[in-house]
Amino acid sequence: MLMAPQESNLNKVVILNPKGGCGKSTVATNLAAYYAKRGTVAAIMDYDLQGSSMAWLERRGAERPPIHGIAAYKKSMQATRSWQLRVPSETETLLIDSPASIDHDDLRELTRDSTSILVPVLPSPIDIHAASRCIADLLLVAKVDRRDRKLAVIANRTRKNTKSLNKLMRFLDSLGIPIIAVLRDTQNFVRAAELGIGVCEMPPSRVKADVEQIEKIANWLDAWPERRLESTAATAINKRPSLAQSILRRVQSGSS
Ligand SMILES: Nc1ncnc2c1ncn2[C@@H]1O[C@H](COP(=O)(O)OP(=O)(O)OP(=O)(O)O)[C@@H](O)[C@H]1O
Ligand SMILES: [Mg+2]
Repeated sequence: MLMAPQESNLNKVVILNPKGGCGKSTVATNLAAYYAKRGTVAAIMDYDLQGSSMAWLERRGAERPPIHGIAAYKKSMQATRSWQLRVPSETETLLIDSPASIDHDDLRELTRDSTSILVPVLPSPIDIHAASRCIADLLLVAKVDRRDRKLAVIANRTRKNTKSLNKLMRFLDSLGIPIIAVLRDTQNFVRAAELGIGVCEMPPSRVKADVEQIEKIANWLDAWPERRLESTAATAINKRPSLAQSILRRVQSGSS
């Protein structure tokens, strides 16, 4: 059975940055493969007319753990938008791949009801500038509240401790936005894209460092119920301290 994404309690992850080539499809497809391999029911929704994620899915062998694909870039006049964007009802994690250059209306549509927003960034000065702009739009146009802790950055194609990475970290630190993973520049990601797989499906000795980072992203994404509860508690602290304390107790005891 298919359902509209907003009607469920699913982990709706949006991967965006209007800067072309920063790694949106790479992150979306590698996370989808990681979740599918782990046994989590995953779907990938592609808003990009280039259809990179859908093409990746078509290259994926039938023997691989399945991932449901939705070509959101195809707009039909015969059906309502929410009908077109339905996902299988058993879906646990929905990964949304977005296009480069996205207007304000699309930004609002894409991020609505999201549990997490990932912004992949290449650490060159031009890319950092574009990422700052993207984050500003998310906060001001899409009205993402930083206190909701749903926004995180992935530094892509980078080496640790470079000047550009340090600059990006200082900028994000000032906004309280975390960098949750650093993906190195490696042909493993290029090869995986060609084969319709994720790095987690390649020989482990070659991809250990890459899979560790994908796992770090997934761990952060999986913690969305706790993040949401913590942010609800933080908002409630000023208004109703007793409610806030009860929510915090639930967070600390690990229930959702
Ligand atoms: N960490 C990496 N190491 C090496 N190559 C990478 C890495 N990340 C991405 N690439 C390669 O860079 C290119 C652009 O990546 P990708 O398609 O994921 O970017 P994108 O943000 O989706 O681009 P677009 O905006 O055009 O949709 C691809 O060829 C991809 O294989
Ligand atoms: Mg892409």
